[in-house]
Amino acid sequence: MEFKIVQKATAKHQLFIIENTTSLAQITLIDETDAKYAATAIANEQSIITINKYDRFVFIYAIKAKSTPSKTKEAYRKVGAELQGLLAKQKADDITITNLSAQADAAYTVAEGLALASYQFLKYKTDAAKLAEKLHSISFTRQSITVKEVTQLQVIVDAIYKARTLVNEPLSYLSAVQLSKEIVALGKDAGFKVTVLQKAQLEKEKMGGLLAVNRGSIDPPTFSIMEYTPKKAINKKPIVLIGKGVVYDTGGLSLKPTANSMDRMKSDMGGAALVSCAMYAIAKLQLPVHVIALVPSTDNRPGENAYVPGDVVTMYSGATVEVLNTDAEGRMLLGDALHWAKRYKPELVADFATLTGAASVAVGEYGIVCMGTAGEDVKSSFRASGERQYERLVEYPLWDEYGDLIKSDVADIKNVGGPSGGAITAGKFLQHFTDYPWMHFDIAGVSFATSKKNYTTIGGTGYGLRMLLDFLVNYGKA
Ligand code: BES
Ligand code: MN
Ligand code: ZN
Repeated sequence: MEFKIVQKATAKHQLFIIENTTSLAQITLIDETDAKYAATAIANEQSIITINKYDRFVFIYAIKAKSTPSKTKEAYRKVGAELQGLLAKQKADDITITNLSAQADAAYTVAEGLALASYQFLKYKTDAAKLAEKLHSISFTRQSITVKEVTQLQVIVDAIYKARTLVNEPLSYLSAVQLSKEIVALGKDAGFKVTVLQKAQLEKEKMGGLLAVNRGSIDPPTFSIMEYTPKKAINKKPIVLIGKGVVYDTGGLSLKPTANSMDRMKSDMGGAALVSCAMYAIAKLQLPVHVIALVPSTDNRPGENAYVPGDVVTMYSGATVEVLNTDAEGRMLLGDALHWAKRYKPELVADFATLTGAASVAVGEYGIVCMGTAGEDVKSSFRASGERQYERLVEYPLWDEYGDLIKSDVADIKNVGGPSGGAITAGKFLQHFTDYPWMHFDIAGVSFATSKKNYTTIGGTGYGLRMLLDFLVNYGKA
């Protein structure tokens, strides 16, 4: 999708955003009868009014404030998604948005919803050309958006498209090695440094957690290190992002049981997609923050040499882990990455992982379960970003008692807790490998969608990326 600012609304189809009927007089494309019709529709609380001018359409959206700014903004995105459906019916290839309301973020946010709803993954469709939607450009009239906002919108939408595509790619294409190549390509495109550690180096480093999970696989693991250093950073010590890069999770020897439990497991690298595409956006936007991102990656399979329940694994940190379920693999590789992060003396580490079914069961597709040792200021800024972007956070506690649940009889810790508190015991496991301010985001419930809903398309969602970028754009601003 291409976004631009135009001097004059030249696109065939037009959207006008208004707050009250008096603005209707400013829309020169419609006549008095149209305006009357629109006014009645607005009175009847219709959200988008379509005025059919034979070969062109004038859409009018009358904003109605909701109970909170967060909900109002989300309503804009949903209207954008509704507009996507209307434009698709007309096979429209472009649209111009004019904001006649006093809400400065309305055009931006409607366009965001429209663009996100327009995403398609057609790589494996032989009739892709026929299936492809026509809309390729969204223009704004000058008063409707700032130049800086258009740039930001373009970069963020591009980043989300890329993250969705990475998740949508099946294992038959996206092995751990291929994922590292995709990350190298992102770095070249956006301008950040990428170093990839291959299997031999991981063995030399003794990254026991990642290597243990990889043992059942026929493909080698990778560990990708991204670094973006701006000319003038506001942070002295780096922020480190970590993304779970399990390109496929069969559960390993603790094989996932029921018929459908593996269907979406190509999405177990959703965290990796999120952080690497966040790096893309950070570098493209040249944010004044020094950020490093780590992606430990492998598939999790029950191959001949697979790690087994009962095994004791020595992690990269030197800590020993009793493996009681090979399906609790994410924490094994994340533990190594969290330990690696210590070398940077980071200001903050944030990991994103499709870590537990428990998090998904707890809040469903409506939010992210988070927990961490970062300060209240960091937590409240993340929370505010989550509200603004409607990618909301629910914080869980890291109480000591949950740590007791992962004590092992034979090793330092075990990789599963009891039957309850599963999202938190996973978090406690990760905490074991941290000694810095840290946040953990469990995105198991939100990374993948099985149906199109508003601006969320089927498959990879990119959910959490807007929240993280909002946090980083505002980082250091009081
Ligand atoms: N990748 C899964 C978590 C998951 C489940 C993500 C459903 C998305 C949807 C993770 O590796 C896993 O298998 N977790 C286990 C942990 C358990 C064995 C302690 C789980 O949640 O069942
Ligand atoms: Mn698993
Ligand atoms: Zn997993």
